[in-house]
Amino acid sequence: MTGHRAKLLFAIVIVFVSFWFKNILQSVWDTYTEFPKVITNGTRIKVFTQEELSQYNGNNGNIVYLAVLGKVFDVTKGSQHYAKGSPYNYFTGKDGSRALITGDFYDESKNKDHVLDLKCGDIFTLLRWQETFKEKYSEIGILDGRYYDNIGHETSYLKELHIKIDQCKVEKETARKKELEYPPCNIAWSAEDGTKVWCTKTSGGISRNWVGVPRQLFTPGEDKPRCVCINLETIHTQGLIKEYKNCQSEATSCFVQI
Ligand code: HEM
Repeated sequence: MTGHRAKLLFAIVIVFVSFWFKNILQSVWDTYTEFPKVITNGTRIKVFTQEELSQYNGNNGNIVYLAVLGKVFDVTKGSQHYAKGSPYNYFTGKDGSRALITGDFYDESKNKDHVLDLKCGDIFTLLRWQETFKEKYSEIGILDGRYYDNIGHETSYLKELHIKIDQCKVEKETARKKELEYPPCNIAWSAEDGTKVWCTKTSGGISRNWVGVPRQLFTPGEDKPRCVCINLETIHTQGLIKEYKNCQSEATSCFVQI
């Protein structure tokens, strides 16, 4: 082997050993430095304590973090919304998910990230908020607390929330199907003529190939009937559906008393 080749081989070995050594050092660093934890599939993610997150509240520096449903976002680039004195400073340094629905920017209770009692529509709004933060900002970790534990595992609370979300999706789909079967009618009121109800192929914002006739739909749990359009050719069971007084059975438009 010539002296030149030996030097080249030596250089390659040095590069290889340095990479290997750097990786070892990195993993020792990761193990003994505070935060990164392995969550799933080897993905490292930082688990914040509540105390640690509270440092990034826009009052002690330029870096601003907040959490939504347990996920921590760096919202520094939106500091016009979040810095001290800015309208949404409340959300910083904590998980204040509940106030994203209630608008109660003074809630410092332990329930400020409690959402399981909210209505399905509100839960969907919260999920949309979380998506908005994911799209606009970087997700930098998770919060040890209601949604994740200190090694980054989902808590039973988060599991319950997943179950609720699934139930809400089923509920939404059922409501959508019901709306296709019973689209809302149009309603107008004038002092002169009273209340007019009528159906069209697009009433209730539901496009269809039939017009239908207006009927009152009584739903358990709702105190007033709703005006819906019924397709007489396909509806056989009339159940909780009633005709309007003074309205012909097959009329698509009527003046009624409500
Ligand atoms: C429940 C009530 C409300 C909540 C929880 C809420 C929450 C928020 C949050 C978190 C942001 C910052 C989003 C980001 O980082 O990009 C924001 C932005 C904003 N909000 Fe609200 N907000 C509420 C009500 C309102 C109301 C009533 C108005 C108007 C009268 C309003 C007007 C705005 C505007 C103009 C922005 C800035 C949008 C932008 O720059 O992209 N918000 N809101």
